[in-house]
Amino acid sequence: MMQNGQPWLDTTGQPIHAHGGCILKYQDWYYWYGEDRRANYYVSCYRSQDLMHWEFRNHILTTTSPFQAQRFKAEGGLVNADGTKVNIERPKVVYNPKTQQFVLWAHYENGQDYTAAAAIVASATTPDGDFTEHGHFRPFGFMSRDCTVFVDAEQAYFISAARDNADIHIYQLSGDYLNVTRLVNRLWSNEFREAPALFKHKGLYYMLTSGTSGWRPNQGKYAVASAIEGNWSDLQDFGDATTFASQPAFVLKNGNQVIYVGDRWGSAEHYQDSSYVFLPLEITSQRALLKNKARWFMAKQQFVFKD
Ligand code: GAL
Repeated sequence: MMQNGQPWLDTTGQPIHAHGGCILKYQDWYYWYGEDRRANYYVSCYRSQDLMHWEFRNHILTTTSPFQAQRFKAEGGLVNADGTKVNIERPKVVYNPKTQQFVLWAHYENGQDYTAAAAIVASATTPDGDFTEHGHFRPFGFMSRDCTVFVDAEQAYFISAARDNADIHIYQLSGDYLNVTRLVNRLWSNEFREAPALFKHKGLYYMLTSGTSGWRPNQGKYAVASAIEGNWSDLQDFGDATTFASQPAFVLKNGNQVIYVGDRWGSAEHYQDSSYVFLPLEITSQRALLKNKARWFMAKQQFVFKD
């Protein structure tokens, strides 16, 4: 049984290390990717067919991952000059059917502070293989911290917090998903949103974000739009004042279910005590949301996958 806020174990009984990540459905499997801060790891991958039993597959990004330059110029390497670890947060993996590559975008920092504020790109030819790093850079020179990737009918977007987290930027990605091609939206100026998570539901786009309070949870907010590049609504609250003691990681669409997935973080010192929170989202009157009138519920009860 997997229960919110409790340690979740893989099929060998080890805690799952996949924070700030995403779940990608590919062929018959769900692949769960996320932060793994142990030893020389950065991103780990698990897979499941029922979202309940998770088999550890691979440490897909580590301090020794190979570097391969792309057509864009980006600084490579997954350790600092003095050999210390960098920091890789909120990894997101998407599949590109045109290139048949799995492309990873994440937030890159130097491991000491948050001044690098860069995006990092990596790719692989299998969902759980060793990823090749393509370097980190600032999209069009903009600071880029908490991030996500969203694919809409094969067009991919990279979304990240810019200008010291004051703004959320949406960048269109190139056909191979490896670079940004255009800044298509700049949202909620000076509202300082983090932890973006996007999904599409009944023809509308939704974005969840948190406020900025580090590892401490705060009031989650959402917005809705009829086009990613169009106008987004103002921000509205969802969940409670601490988003049920969690911060958004991603949203999983599973049949008719829309499942919010968040991290219940330990503090910096107790990061390894962080756990996961899965909660169903109930969305009503989507059209009215555009006028900021509708209510949107997040079920309060614990969402538990049961054997
Ligand atoms: C949060 C952010 C996390 C991590 C943390 C560090 O606001 O969403 O990904 O960066 O701050 O304090």
